[in-house]
Amino acid sequence: MEENTELRDLIIPEHVAIIMDGNGRWAKKRGLPRTFGHRQGCTVVERTVEDAARIGLKYLTVYAFSTENWKRSEEEVGALMQLFRYYMVRLLDVATKNNVRVKMIGDRRRFPKDIIEGINRLERETCEATGLTFVIAVNYGGRDEIRRAAIALCDDVKEGKRDISESFSEEDFSQYLDTAGMPDPDLLIRTSGELRLSNFLLWQLAYSEIYITDLYWPDFNKAELINAIKAYNKRNRRFGGV
Ligand code: FPP
Repeated sequence: MEENTELRDLIIPEHVAIIMDGNGRWAKKRGLPRTFGHRQGCTVVERTVEDAARIGLKYLTVYAFSTENWKRSEEEVGALMQLFRYYMVRLLDVATKNNVRVKMIGDRRRFPKDIIEGINRLERETCEATGLTFVIAVNYGGRDEIRRAAIALCDDVKEGKRDISESFSEEDFSQYLDTAGMPDPDLLIRTSGELRLSNFLLWQLAYSEIYITDLYWPDFNKAELINAIKAYNKRNRRFGGV
């Protein structure tokens, strides 16, 4: 972990989640096609993984592609798929060099076969890393995740593997979510100034602190990540208590 005087005396959140917004606007401001914003956004994802690992986060989760993003133009969806293909290979290298374990959440079944294979490979080849866990949400929607969890639970009940009684707890239900075994995010960062959850981690964000920055995602950097951690340190987390 890096000796960073700015971080001394700060509580480092265990899990930071990020809604990476503003790629399109970043590109438009420069008179470039939207896909240039996504490409720059990918570079920033790579850098942020390295920064998060050095800072000592245990989990970093990013929203890369939502269940609603399929509604974008065929050209934009196609460009995003190409970027996934290219960056999955680069990410394997970044993860290996930084002792990072990569995990994908969301319903990967809708992706082209080669992308599914790339995702599986990334997970398989990094599964023994002991540093940061980098979670990428792809074809992810919070409602869809809860729906899939409910179906999996019903299947277990039908097969007699699970008894649902009063004692079936929130913790028990959360084991059916894509994030089973992970702590909930302590801090949610959203870029580009929007004040929405956009169907991201609806169950898991119940008590997370929220930090909004006006920076577009391609302009996000380590200094802003540290600003978010500083803001988090000023919050008084009560989890519904007093
Ligand atoms: C939001 O900007 C961004 C996205 C929908 C895609 C985010 C994806 C990446 C940064 C690539 C991630 C890649 C990997 C490999 C993890 P927007 O297009 O909604 O921007 P706008 O709101 O300005 O239009």
